[in-house]
Amino acid sequence: MPKTNFQSLLLLFLVFLWGNSCKKTAPAFDYQATKTFAADSAAVVSPHPLATRVGLEILKKGGNAVDAAVAVQFALAVVYPRAGNIGGGGFMVIRTGDGEAAALDYREKAPMAASRDMYLDSRGNVIDGLSTIGHLAAGVPGTVAGLFEAHRRYGRIQDMKELIQPAVELAEKGFRISATEADRLNGFQEGFRKYNEAPNPFIKDAFQPGDLMVQEKLAATLKQIRDRGKAGFYEGPVAEAIVAEIQSGNGIMTLEDLRQYASQWRDPVIGQYGEYRVISMPPSSSGGIALLQMLKMVEPYPLHEYGFHSARAVHLMVEAERRAYADRAEHLGDSDFYDVPRDSMLSDAYLRARMASFDAGQATVSDSILAGNFKLLKESFETTHTSVVDAGGNAVSVTTTLNSNYGCKVWVDGAGFFLNNEMDDFSAKPGVPNQFGLVGAEANAIQPGKRMLSSMTPTIVEKGGELFLVLGAPGGSTIITAVFQVFINVAEFGMSLEEAVNAGRFHHQWLPDAILIEDNAFPDSTRQALEAMGHSFNIVGRMAVIKAIQRLPDGRLQGVGDPRNPDDDAGGY
Ligand code: DON
Repeated sequence: MPKTNFQSLLLLFLVFLWGNSCKKTAPAFDYQATKTFAADSAAVVSPHPLATRVGLEILKKGGNAVDAAVAVQFALAVVYPRAGNIGGGGFMVIRTGDGEAAALDYREKAPMAASRDMYLDSRGNVIDGLSTIGHLAAGVPGTVAGLFEAHRRYGRIQDMKELIQPAVELAEKGFRISATEADRLNGFQEGFRKYNEAPNPFIKDAFQPGDLMVQEKLAATLKQIRDRGKAGFYEGPVAEAIVAEIQSGNGIMTLEDLRQYASQWRDPVIGQYGEYRVISMPPSSSGGIALLQMLKMVEPYPLHEYGFHSARAVHLMVEAERRAYADRAEHLGDSDFYDVPRDSMLSDAYLRARMASFDAGQATVSDSILAGNFKLLKESFETTHTSVVDAGGNAVSVTTTLNSNYGCKVWVDGAGFFLNNEMDDFSAKPGVPNQFGLVGAEANAIQPGKRMLSSMTPTIVEKGGELFLVLGAPGGSTIITAVFQVFINVAEFGMSLEEAVNAGRFHHQWLPDAILIEDNAFPDSTRQALEAMGHSFNIVGRMAVIKAIQRLPDGRLQGVGDPRNPDDDAGGY
């Protein structure tokens, strides 16, 4: 063969090989994340494009925001397994188009065999890892009960089956995992292998972006729920599979715990900040009360004059955060079990007194402020959030979690999903920090049937009586401060929602006594000025991951996902 022909053949062969290898490695995604989307009438922002798509389809079929949010939650249980769930719990805040506000608590509960000192050794020390990993870390899941209840009270689409079917199909046919999911799955293999003996779709040597994830057992479970309702999860084969899984480890959850689980409607926390009316989640979340406390503590000061990320503004906000988290540690827990002094904590007199020790030029030392004392008063870190607004102006803000990525890492072998490790959100021992560094005491001590205290802060804000903002986030203890700061960025610093979400964040939670900041969040001058006031810093890569929708003055809806999660996706029409 002449040399030139040989060379061209070789070249052709190499091109063929290259083309084939591209075919093999290039993932066949049928989705792409959009971070900001301006919609004319309805919007969905969720942590995964396939879930956003499901929500939009339900809206287009005539479903309202609650229908869409419910369908998104089931879809997330399939396509966002690190936090989307049926094995966890959550909170949903709803504001209907005509202004009615509601809050649904479907947080997990401690099993009836749980006890106050269950994570302590014989010397009274917390046993490392017992509340975070493995079968004993799981609380009784609330998600399925909550989604059925939200739909029962507010859904427009008659048949719940229509809201579950998209998830069934995603589980049965499979979906292509994103680069972030592949990365997380690879990172948690050790836990998966340690706590799961049988093979499952999450155990594999190396996940690649674009791998097809088929979940047959989860599809079968979702069909049980689709066909038998709430009982399809809390009774019968799925419940039996959960208990069999729990008994194969050191868990304590029983069929009776599952059968008895019920979600609970609560009075939302509602408060005014200037012309804004903030509607958020009450206990068993700390989110709403802490958020309103922080807002009320900074309200008397001219934050907009201080300027975004100025040392004065950050100092003021940090001092409000410090005081709110000190109160959280002492006074907040499941209000069905503990008498939370909600009105006192939110009273103007109390919050003014709380800020009496604020010094505009000096950091307060956390040890000096303790939690507020109400006797002095005249009493009168993976989770997921979805924001939805429909064409009728109904809004839903829903945050749900397994707590850690893939919860306690135990995958229910007979039913195809991960169980939460929410028990770690209790205070295992007064003053001993949990995985988010949060401390607690009596209010959040473990009791059978009690809900562990959360920081999830699904929130809806009105302006001038109209829907203005729907927001929330995953991010453990940093959720509350992220919601606080994104709202302040919009309301005080005049930012667009996208700017407000993207802006660097800081967080103070009383203990440890340091400001957590995202790398490069502040200009050096701000940092130096804060250091001169006595503040110190811990740096993290990223904090909470906001998903929000703003109603613009012209009535359009601006949906914004957070670049901190590459999969966050905003859509609408
Ligand atoms: O309920 C809570 O506050 C926590 N279990 C949330 C966990 C979380 O956001 C983890 N995500 N980053």
